[in-house]
Amino acid sequence: MKKLSMLINARDIISHISPEIYGHFSEHLGRCIYNGIYVGEDSAIPNTDGIRNDIIEAFREIKVPVLRWPGGCFADEYHWKDGIGKKSERKKMINTNWGGVTEDNSFGTHEFFRLCELVGCEPYLSGNVGSGTVRELSEWIEYITSDNVSPMTELRKQNGREKPWKLKYLGIGNENWGCGGNMRPEFYADVYRRFQSFCKNYGDNKLFRIACGPGEGDIGWTEGLMKNITHAHADAISLHHYTLPTKNWTKKGDAVKFGNEEYYSTIAGAVHTDDLIARNIDIMNRYDPKNEIKLTVDEWGCWYDVMEGTNPGFLYQQNTMRDAVVAAYSLNIFNRRSDRVVMANIAQVVNVLQAIILTEGEAMIKTPTYHVFDLFKEHQGGENVYCWCDNEKIGNENEKVPMISSSASVKDGVMTITLANASLDEDAEISCDICGFNASSAQAKILTGEVHALNDIDNGDRVKPAEYSASVSGGNLSVVLPACSVVTVTVK
Ligand code: AHR
Repeated sequence: MKKLSMLINARDIISHISPEIYGHFSEHLGRCIYNGIYVGEDSAIPNTDGIRNDIIEAFREIKVPVLRWPGGCFADEYHWKDGIGKKSERKKMINTNWGGVTEDNSFGTHEFFRLCELVGCEPYLSGNVGSGTVRELSEWIEYITSDNVSPMTELRKQNGREKPWKLKYLGIGNENWGCGGNMRPEFYADVYRRFQSFCKNYGDNKLFRIACGPGEGDIGWTEGLMKNITHAHADAISLHHYTLPTKNWTKKGDAVKFGNEEYYSTIAGAVHTDDLIARNIDIMNRYDPKNEIKLTVDEWGCWYDVMEGTNPGFLYQQNTMRDAVVAAYSLNIFNRRSDRVVMANIAQVVNVLQAIILTEGEAMIKTPTYHVFDLFKEHQGGENVYCWCDNEKIGNENEKVPMISSSASVKDGVMTITLANASLDEDAEISCDICGFNASSAQAKILTGEVHALNDIDNGDRVKPAEYSASVSGGNLSVVLPACSVVTVTVK
């Protein structure tokens, strides 16, 4: 048992945690939308307007705050007008990025906004910059948000929606350094400036414009972009970071069969998120010292080799306790960086990459990652306060990571502390002094299991949170974190 001390100072408020840090990403990819979230009105699976009821319920339970759509790479070949009107008359297209399958556009703008309405979350649209036009994007915004008289608002009304929707989050392009057009940063910055000029605020709708930022460590992109935009053009830039156990895109590693070495290198990938954010913030601070342009990590998560026997273009993978630890480390990093990071979207929400939900016909399975979002949800809208841990480095010869990940927030007089122990073989006994807060009671929940433990169709409850014990006495919290565990402590 490792004994570690921690200190939380509730008087030292560092930043506000935007609920959107707990956001998600849904793309027309594999079984994320079709045969995932959306089964169609005629399905035998209980649904509301074609959207699975159990999924709506599961999203509501963890308070999904924002959902990004329709991509990803798909966004830069998506033409929104193909996805409105009578379903039988909607154009079919080839999803060239993801398996070359036929996209029948039966899930489009109206269906997406209905989903967000049912879940109670903010919609986040990725606009097509790579193969779309300025007019097309400008008209999409008008179609969605204007209450005036115009061909676009008439079209919306003809399609059954009288009142405009609200739209806050708008991504202008996706990975435009890659699948979104293979541009150079200076060129993209100009294209971006032009596109955003025509994304108007109708009525009291106010867009939060997100420019395509770097992928992984490509800080040259951040530099080139930040040099050429100001807050007048953008409210945020995005960052994409995927965690690959082997760091090799042609052999990423298996989702369920892995040894200790691969495990620790996966955790290191999550820890690396913090370096990436820090390096981007350094550059952003030079061009935007007032912190007006925010950072969104709008794609993150583990990316493994696709599950054997599944379509390689569908990016389907299982999810174990390893993924839970990655999620906890990542979310604690976002909480701690919430001064600049105002949104993060795990990739992807259902049946793709580090999904929180897997479906198999009628069955719906909550993955270990889902439960981490559940354990962390009370941070949403809280104040991120000073939280320090006298950490240990663990791992193997090649990869060392901090043994404990932590963050703390206060909301409505309640403190939420989230902790993870990444060690595979050693428990940690935490003794945490809490200052500036009248701590009189503590309740805890835990998610733990053997690192390969997962939920599947045979047993969807193998990994699930359980009540746990933590105690507070004289302003000191004491809690034991078993090896490979994620714990939430609520202090009142
Ligand atoms: O999430 C899968 C893909 O990863 C997205 O479509 C793309 O933006 C990224 O490269």
